[in-house]
Amino acid sequence: MERIVIEGGRGLRGDIQISGAKNAALPLIAATLLTPGWHTLHNVPNLRDTRTIMALLEAMGVRWEWAPDGPLRINSEHLVGNEASYDLVKTMRASILVLGPLVARLGCARVSLPGGCAIGARPIDFHLRGLARLGCTIALNDGYVDAKIDGRLRGGTVYFDIPSVTGTENILMAASLAKGDTVIKNAAREPEIGNLVDMLTLMGCGIEGRGTDTLVVHGVRELRPAEIAIIPDRIETGTYLMAVGAAGGEVVLRNCNPKHLPALLEKLHAVGLDIEVGETSIRVARRGPLRNVDITTMPFPGFPTDLQAQFMALMSMGNGLAVIHENIFENRFMHVAELRRLGAEIHIDGHSAIVTGVERLRGAQVMATDLRASASLVVAGLAAEGSTIISRIYHLERGYANLVEKLAKVGAAIRKEKEPS
Ligand code: EPU
Repeated sequence: MERIVIEGGRGLRGDIQISGAKNAALPLIAATLLTPGWHTLHNVPNLRDTRTIMALLEAMGVRWEWAPDGPLRINSEHLVGNEASYDLVKTMRASILVLGPLVARLGCARVSLPGGCAIGARPIDFHLRGLARLGCTIALNDGYVDAKIDGRLRGGTVYFDIPSVTGTENILMAASLAKGDTVIKNAAREPEIGNLVDMLTLMGCGIEGRGTDTLVVHGVRELRPAEIAIIPDRIETGTYLMAVGAAGGEVVLRNCNPKHLPALLEKLHAVGLDIEVGETSIRVARRGPLRNVDITTMPFPGFPTDLQAQFMALMSMGNGLAVIHENIFENRFMHVAELRRLGAEIHIDGHSAIVTGVERLRGAQVMATDLRASASLVVAGLAAEGSTIISRIYHLERGYANLVEKLAKVGAAIRKEKEPS
């Protein structure tokens, strides 16, 4: 096992290239199951999670080619299976994204129930209710979801109690091959959904309402393969913005989309960072002290829950109090105990964390508990005095491409090393 060691307190300077978005790549890869033929996906990040979903597809007979730094080409012509096993699903909840496309194309699918995870219970009832609305019979057997249809899915109205990102994606994919129109109400509006809508449109399915909470899908009998680029990763972008906020210095993030980060950019202005936004770049600099501000996580375009932990790390070294309210997941404060080990003063009150900024964090040994919690420890470690040692970094590798290399290139004293046995 490996760990990350950071000697904090060095300002960051230079350019960072942002990779493709993990949470866009996963549904777009799943969408290749909808129809045979070679799909071409550009800007796919090489991450543990993208490799996991490819392993899942490969186990069903999908062929793929991925040259280093080249596009990912996928062909599901020789699909031999329709099952996503517990072994793979337990390592990545987003595996549930294969359910909609498989059942739409093959008429039946078997996908392991994902179970809980570090950030909460995370049920999939909206996915299942939505598919049932389109005519699927759903049964739960031995920890698996068995979904079946007689003939072809048929369009219907699907309403989400809460906008669900992967729920919306699953229904979009299933509805693209359904007979007739499907209306998705209270759909999630995250930019990754726009990327999937664009792919399904290129595949030949008409979809109205892109970027809104009501999507109308005009299902078709057959789709064709598509060629499309994955959008830049807004969570990776936000994480590096906060890394510069914590460590100080001046960095230009390239190949990103500032329009995908409205809430974070607004908050970072209020915190006192200098931010200059270009079409596909963001220049960020810290020239003065940090002022603590409050956030509440919300579905897009609100403040993303996937940046809450990193923002908390930043607030732990700012001036004054910050109240951080987590609205999306019930247990997304696992990083608090670890940030406290670095000297942060954080008090949890139900779904809120009250952060009192301290003058200085101090390096310590900490443990990553989930992907974004790990990123918050990196942000904190870059500012902390002395060495911060982060164990269990496999979480980070699920979602950040070349994090150590990217940060080292802009001057951070960060390295990976073998965990002593
Ligand atoms: N929910 C239900 N029932 C469902 C589905 C969702 O009650 O059937 C609830 C959830 O428990 C949560 C809320 O609805 O309280 C929203 O969850 P959502 O379904 O939107 O989350 P998700 O689709 O499982 C995606 C991202 C997460 C990100 C959330 C919220 C992917 C692959 N995952 O998860 O990303 O936190 O949306 O924005 O897109 C990450 O990248 O670190 C990550 C966890």
